Amino acid sequence: MKIIEVRDYKEMSQKAAEWIIHQVRINPHSVLGLATGGTMLGTYAALVEDYRNHQTTYRHVHTVNLDEYIGLDGDHPNSYRYYMNHHFFHFIDIPSSQTHIPNGLAEDVEAECQRYEEMIQAVGGIDLQIVGIGQNGHIGFNEPGTSFDSTTHVVRLAESTRKANARFFSSIEEVPTHAITMGIATIMKSKQILLLASGEEKATILSQLLETEVTPAIPASILKTHDNVTIMADQKALALVS
Ligand code: F6R
Repeated sequence: MKIIEVRDYKEMSQKAAEWIIHQVRINPHSVLGLATGGTMLGTYAALVEDYRNHQTTYRHVHTVNLDEYIGLDGDHPNSYRYYMNHHFFHFIDIPSSQTHIPNGLAEDVEAECQRYEEMIQAVGGIDLQIVGIGQNGHIGFNEPGTSFDSTTHVVRLAESTRKANARFFSSIEEVPTHAITMGIATIMKSKQILLLASGEEKATILSQLLETEVTPAIPASILKTHDNVTIMADQKALALVS
């Protein structure tokens, strides 16, 4: 795993955006694996600004998001579909049919998981996957204990994750209890993975991640076995790494 230390959130966002732009320029048909959450907001803002200034085109790109809450439709302000539309997709030239997010309202969620997994392979597999990291080491919504062999599946969210995400809802009761997430094996099939982390709330998990053996107790630790992973983190997130 390569580590790139940046000064702060702003620099992380700018550099992550440049990374994505480079990928899209060298391969206009790229499949981008995308994430939501606070970590990613600055990156999407930088991508939108780049699109305005330089018209980097996404006409042939496919995007596949890591996860979606079960029970929220795409118009719900806390669904990940809404987040992606309103922070990124609506401001660039990507056809909406090429933006893929699990359907959190699917009647048959197991069939939806299988469809999503097959769709990722059908569009050619993920060229560059961006991931954030949860304070418990989750990637996507793969909580501690998730099998490294998992493909897209339904998860019950850890209470700590629901609490961390409650800041986007008016109360914790409103945070969905379940989600659909790409599995760890799905993420690991990506050709390249960029993990972003910013702020002191990520310092403990980053130091644990870098010091621990590969263990399902810290799902992100599996990334150590992938041959093309970069962690880009700011000084506060790397503060406890010796
Ligand atoms: C989001 C996702 C999550 C987040 C993680 C960090 O699509 O899959 O794994 O990346 O929970 O969230 P933030 O960035 O809000 O700290």
